[in-house]
Amino acid sequence: MIRTQEEYQQLYRKSIDLPEKFWGDVASEFHWFRKWDRVLNWENPPFAKWFEGGKTNLSYNCLDRHLAARGNKPAIIWEGEPNEDRRVLTYAELHREVCKFANVLLNQGVKAGDTIAIYMPLVPELAIAMLACARIGAIHSIIFGGFSAPALVDRINDASSKFVITADGSWRRGNLIELKKIVDDALKNTPTVKNCIVLRRAANAIDMVSGRDLWWHDVMTGASEYCSAAELDSEHPLFILYTSGSTGKPKGILHTTAGYMVGTHLTTKYVFDLREQDVYWCTADIGWVTGHSYVVYGPLSNGATTLMYEGAPNYPDVDRFWSIVERYKVNVFYTAPTAIRAFMKWGNEAPKKHDLSSLRLLGSVGEPINPEAWIWYHEIIGGGRCPIVDTWWQTETGGIMITPLPGITPTKPGSATFPFFGVDAAVVDDKGEELPLGQGGFLVIRKPWPSMLRTLWGDDARFREVYWARFADKGYYMAGDGAVRDEDGYFWILGRIDDVLNVSGHRLSTMEVESALVAHEAVVEAAVVGFNHEVKGEGVAAFVTLGPGFEKGTKMADALKKHVRDMIGAIAAPDQIHFSEALPKTRSGKIMRRLLRDVANGVESKGDMTTLEDLNVLAKLRQQEEE
Ligand code: WT7
Repeated sequence: MIRTQEEYQQLYRKSIDLPEKFWGDVASEFHWFRKWDRVLNWENPPFAKWFEGGKTNLSYNCLDRHLAARGNKPAIIWEGEPNEDRRVLTYAELHREVCKFANVLLNQGVKAGDTIAIYMPLVPELAIAMLACARIGAIHSIIFGGFSAPALVDRINDASSKFVITADGSWRRGNLIELKKIVDDALKNTPTVKNCIVLRRAANAIDMVSGRDLWWHDVMTGASEYCSAAELDSEHPLFILYTSGSTGKPKGILHTTAGYMVGTHLTTKYVFDLREQDVYWCTADIGWVTGHSYVVYGPLSNGATTLMYEGAPNYPDVDRFWSIVERYKVNVFYTAPTAIRAFMKWGNEAPKKHDLSSLRLLGSVGEPINPEAWIWYHEIIGGGRCPIVDTWWQTETGGIMITPLPGITPTKPGSATFPFFGVDAAVVDDKGEELPLGQGGFLVIRKPWPSMLRTLWGDDARFREVYWARFADKGYYMAGDGAVRDEDGYFWILGRIDDVLNVSGHRLSTMEVESALVAHEAVVEAAVVGFNHEVKGEGVAAFVTLGPGFEKGTKMADALKKHVRDMIGAIAAPDQIHFSEALPKTRSGKIMRRLLRDVANGVESKGDMTTLEDLNVLAKLRQQEEE
């Protein structure tokens, strides 16, 4: 048990100086079919091997390991968006369902190492499907339910998924989302997919393709409740999760079994300070990494009760979240700043209507939390008594990297404070030299950590290039964020240093949106930048040049927004569309995004414009804004 900042510092030093001892001790808490020979093999950077030679299973460690002591304890408390939909699954029940579904997959011919795409609503069956994959060593690739058919096609094909698991439909703010229909569209262009398992969720009418599509309830009928967990190598791939990079092609982040298990376990335990009777709620969708690590794997590996809510925070009313906190007496609550800012906008009445006194600890993730939102969260939701843990991490890091420890680290609103155990974070200049306090630079991680990504699926070269090339001589991982440490050594994250936007806590590549736009017949050229958005943090602004014969105006703007939504998904739909005859470029033809950002934010452009090819372009753009 850690009680003071001094104790944290001591343990932190130990974790950095003797990482193998530190992580070996943590890993000993788990069940191993075979103990590892070596905690870390870093002989061939950037390809790490953790717990080399060990054999284990994450599904076993999340379920079977708890059966004796926690068989009747709720593992998942679920609430659907339609208010009457409620379910509780105990550890014993979850174990049984996972075993059955694992047998279903085996019966369908799924083998260890096969990839399976999952495109589902936030229902218990999603967790069941994940844990069943992990049980037999199939690699899950979960695709957020908000992505469109073309986005689904890219991700299914990149991972060569053989199976798709989906549902007929899902509910969002009272609207039906026809998931199966989107899958049907996608499967026209995915040669590797053999079968599709469909959960009945919304009971909407769907087409079932005979020979390809199977109902979940049919295949589960009669499936055996016994399925031994496969004895998997520590480095056996666990999942692929796609995230946006600075090119148009999403990156398949690969996480493997043992290191991810150990990393998410320990961060969940310490950062959320879990107690046996706690009801823990992370509001993230499982389609994002936060849901993987802190709705499913981290909480279950700790034997915790994890709450899942399927729907929107403002359905049927803006107090939905607070009614859930009250109903289940939630103790630990983890959400994103964008949600907090939306709640602020919706007013204090909604939370005030409910008894939130069960809350003990609040968390934040996804983007820097502005001090105003931090204070509101602390006062209005936390009643002034709950510590807030502002956790910095990434899809790539697998688990939380920079974070306060509740009750131990003195917090400052807006700072993620200090690195977690085993995380050697630093702020460096472009040569990799650590910068003095107060100077902003690149955020790097100087040593490998257990839950780190292992590669980009099928693309070792890009993995090296994106994360390790910049500081190759030092062997540092480049996070892609800027950061600064203040006079007390606290880390402050300054935001992305690449062409990646952070829209509502989700990563979006400007290039991806640009390629979607230029795929529209009317668009000749497009540039996408971020601008400050009151709720989303960053909004999407698109500057487009139309081809001859196409007319600018609201109708065209709406058509382009819809087009991006259809190509990628609603999160990518531009908030602003600016029509321009040309885009401001340097003499070498590079679009000057800095200037476009100024236009999108409605501020004057300052600084050097001598490389701007045609100053007229900018003047025209601004003039248009005023029209
Ligand atoms: C990027 C990672 C990790 C879960 C959700 C997002 C930004 C994340 C914070 C924070 C400031 C943050 C960074 C990071 N970010 N958490 N607490 N403070 N910025 O995962 O989609 O992989 O995005 O989100 O820019 O690089 P992701």
